[in-house]
Amino acid sequence: NLIPKYVNELVVPPVFKPTVVKDPTTGEEISHNYTVSATELKQQLLPRRFPKTPVWGYEGIIEDGTCFSSTPGPTFDAVKGIPVNVQWVNNITGPSFLPVDPTLHWANPNNMPTPEPPFQPFPPGYPLAQSPVPISTHLHGGETRSDSDGNPEAWFTAGEEKTGLAFTKSRFTYPNQQEPTTLWYHDHTLGITRLNVVAGLAGFYLLRDPNSEIEPLLPSGPFEIPIVIQDRSFNEDGSLLFPNEGNNPNIHPYWIPDFLGNAIMVNGKVWPNVDVERRQYRFRILNGSNSRFYNLKLSNGQSFIQIGSDGGFLRCPLTMTELLLGPAERADVLIDFSKVEPGTKIIFTNDAAAPFPAGDPPDDNTGQVMQFTVLDTASVPPVTLPPILNKIPILIPDTPQKILTLNAVLGRNGARELLLDGQRWEAPISELPTVGSTVDWVFANVSRATHPIHIHLIQFQIVSRQLFESDRYLADWLLLNGEPPLQHPTIPLPVEPYLIGKPMEPDLNEQGWKDTIRANPNEVTRMRLRFTPQNVESGDSKPGVNQFSFDPTVGPGYVWHCHILDHEDNDMMRPMKVVSSTI
Ligand code: C2O
Ligand code: CU
Repeated sequence: NLIPKYVNELVVPPVFKPTVVKDPTTGEEISHNYTVSATELKQQLLPRRFPKTPVWGYEGIIEDGTCFSSTPGPTFDAVKGIPVNVQWVNNITGPSFLPVDPTLHWANPNNMPTPEPPFQPFPPGYPLAQSPVPISTHLHGGETRSDSDGNPEAWFTAGEEKTGLAFTKSRFTYPNQQEPTTLWYHDHTLGITRLNVVAGLAGFYLLRDPNSEIEPLLPSGPFEIPIVIQDRSFNEDGSLLFPNEGNNPNIHPYWIPDFLGNAIMVNGKVWPNVDVERRQYRFRILNGSNSRFYNLKLSNGQSFIQIGSDGGFLRCPLTMTELLLGPAERADVLIDFSKVEPGTKIIFTNDAAAPFPAGDPPDDNTGQVMQFTVLDTASVPPVTLPPILNKIPILIPDTPQKILTLNAVLGRNGARELLLDGQRWEAPISELPTVGSTVDWVFANVSRATHPIHIHLIQFQIVSRQLFESDRYLADWLLLNGEPPLQHPTIPLPVEPYLIGKPMEPDLNEQGWKDTIRANPNEVTRMRLRFTPQNVESGDSKPGVNQFSFDPTVGPGYVWHCHILDHEDNDMMRPMKVVSSTI
C-alpha cells in the first residue's frame, strides 16, 4: 500500500442550512425544510499528490449560504420537536461506476432479464444494469412513518423517470420526537446499497434537544467532531476499486460476501491527521463501512469516556480503553487531551479481525484509522459529568417471543446468499408486530460470522447473549423446515434445549438504546423491541396509534436486516409491517 498516512488533514462535513418555517402569529418554528440531491463529483480522498476520486455525494445549501456537495454529505443539525422535511432529488445522470450484479434481487429499473451463465465479465458487463442509477434514502435510526423511511423498493431514478414498487413520494418528513443522538442517512436501494454507499451516499444527521441538561456540558463547536470510518480500495488512477469477480462466479458474477477495503478513510479522507488542543473533545463515531468491524484503541493507552450509543445517552458515563463497532453502530465518546504532552501523536488503532470475528487480523494499514496531533496550547480541564446521563426505561415483554435464525446458504463453490429465518426478501411477510406491543426477538445465529442486525422504526434494547449448540440446532431446524430458501412461514424451533451455560450480560456500552446489535456466531442474542415512540415511559405499556406523532401502520412498511451491506444486498433483509391493535 503506497498511500502515505496522516498527510491528509481531517475534514468535518459542513452543516446543511434549512429554510425555517415559522408560525406567523407566534413566531414558533414549525419545520426545517431542505432540498438535498444525490450527485456526482470528484473529491480529494487520497493525499494531494494523487488524483481526485470520482464519487457520489449529497448536495444542498450549507450554513454560509452556498451550495455544496461532498461525501460524506453535509450534516443535518436537527432539533428535537421540530420536524424536518427533505425533498430528496436524484441528480445522478451517469452510469454506476461500480459493478451492479444483475443476478441479485435488485431495483432493476430497466426490467432487464436476469442473466444466465456464462456471465459477462465487468466491464462492460451488463450496461442495462449500470444506468440509470436508482436511489432511496433512509434515515438510519429515525422514528419515521414508513413512506418517509426510504424503503428499498421506494427507489427512483433521475427526474423520477422510473420508480420502484414502494415509491410514493420523494419529500420525506422526519418528526424528530425521539431522543437526541447521532443518526445517519444513507442510500438503501434494493440490491445495490453496498455500491451506492461505497460510491459515497452517506452522511450524518445529528438530533439535538435544546432542553437537554447534558448537552450544554459537553464539548461543542470546533470541539465536537463527527467521524465516519469507512474502508476503501483504490485503483492507480485514484478511482475506487470494488472487486468485480464474485467468490462464486457461476451463481453471482460480481457479488462478494464481504467487501473489505485495504485503506481506511475518515470523513472522506484516507488516514487523516487532526490537530487537537489540550482539552476534551466530543467525537461521534460511526462505523460506515460495508462489512469491516473496528475495535478502536488509542495508541498511547489512554482511556476515553463513552456517553452515548446508537439511540441516545447511556445511563451513566463509561470509562473504557477499547471500543468495538460493527457496521452502522455509533458511539458518542469524549477524549481528553488536556494531560497529553504537546507534540504527541496518538493513533486510533484497530485490531478487529475481518470478516469478524474469525477472519484475518488487520495489517499495518487496516490496523490504523487516524492520528491526533496534540498542539502546544494551554491545558483546559475536562468537564465533570453527572453520574446519571439518561433515564432508560426497563421494557417488559407482553407478547410471546419470536425465534429467528440467521443462516448462510452455501452454493457449490462458496456463499450464494445469507438469509434471515431461511427466507429471501420476496417471501411473504412474517414480521407483523402490533403497535404498542413489547416483544423479544431471539436470534439463533447458525452462521460463522457476526451479523449486525438492524431494525427500522424503533430504538430497542439487548437483553442477553448465550452460547448454544448451533450445529445441532441447525440440523434440527433443517429437518423441521427444509432447505432454505423457504417460501412458506417457518416453524420456530425453541432454543432452550440447545443452550449452553448462562446468559451473558450485554457489554456495558450496549446497555442503552440501540438500533443495530451484533449477533455473534454460536450465540443466541435476545433483543427486546417495543413498538411505541421511544419517549414513552415504561408505565404506559399500551400506547396506541394516536400516541405516535405519526402512524407507523401507514405506508409500505419497514425492513429489518443485517447491516453488512453485502449481506443485505443479497437477501439478508426482510420486510416488517407494524399492524394496528384495533382490528
Ligand atoms: Cu442503515 Cu436499513 O439501514
Ligand atoms: Cu450479515
